[in-house]
Amino acid sequence: MEILIVGAGNMARGIGLRLVRGGHRVRIAARNPDKAADLAAELGDSAVGEPLDSSAGSEVIVLATPYDGSKEIARLWADQLGGKTVVDISNPVDFTTFDGLVTPVGKSAAEEIAEAAPGAKVVKAFNTTFASRLVNSTPLDLFVAGDDPDAKKTVVGLGLDADLRPIDVGGLKHAGALEAFQLLHMKVQDQINGGWSTAITLAEA
Ligand SMILES: NC(=O)c1ccc[n+]([C@@H]2O[C@H](COP(=O)([O-])OP(=O)(O)OC[C@H]3O[C@@H](n4cnc5c(N)ncnc54)[C@H](OP(=O)(O)O)[C@@H]3O)[C@@H](O)[C@H]2O)c1
Repeated sequence: MEILIVGAGNMARGIGLRLVRGGHRVRIAARNPDKAADLAAELGDSAVGEPLDSSAGSEVIVLATPYDGSKEIARLWADQLGGKTVVDISNPVDFTTFDGLVTPVGKSAAEEIAEAAPGAKVVKAFNTTFASRLVNSTPLDLFVAGDDPDAKKTVVGLGLDADLRPIDVGGLKHAGALEAFQLLHMKVQDQINGGWSTAITLAEA
């Protein structure tokens, strides 16, 4: 499958690597085309870099951009995202305090993105996996939330191909819990000397 990843930063690298290793083709689209080309070259022959122009040609789009940027892209591309699987990986955290979310009360980033692009099949995933864990081959749990069963099935399939353990937590209404979950994971990094490389994992009994 071909996946369009928007952004050429740490998460684009981590997710891109996992998907390429899993046998998929990856398009890296970034507002700085040089960064997109550099990351694509790093990912290998199954990846191409391109400017941030359009989602045309890809049915799965991963928004590997900050919360505000992801909302902006969803708004700008609303007309072209209809019927497509849009993966929101963002953590809408107050990065000055790490003590709260910046989303409106009662609403998740994923739900805001779904509102901005009403025809898109939005799936929340990858927000609890630190980039540093994605770039190595560590097994990881991938929490997935979404309302469209086919879109969720696609993301679960990609997760399996990417050597992750997908865990379906239900509809998009649960995206806020995943965002809050990851806020706490980030908040305690110093306390547990986590080095931004820990993982939220459901241990086997
Ligand atoms: N890092 C993690 O471990 C981690 C884990 C889980 C989830 N996340 C989430 O993943 C997302 C990406 O994080 P990251 O760590 O990969 O960030 P990053 O390394 O800073 O990369 C962000 C990318 O988004 C681009 N970008 C920023 N604002 C944009 C906009 N308005 N329009 C288009 N492109 C824009 C940046 O482009 P420029 O280079 O031009 O600025 C860059 O390519 C965030 O939502 C974050 O909360 C991160």
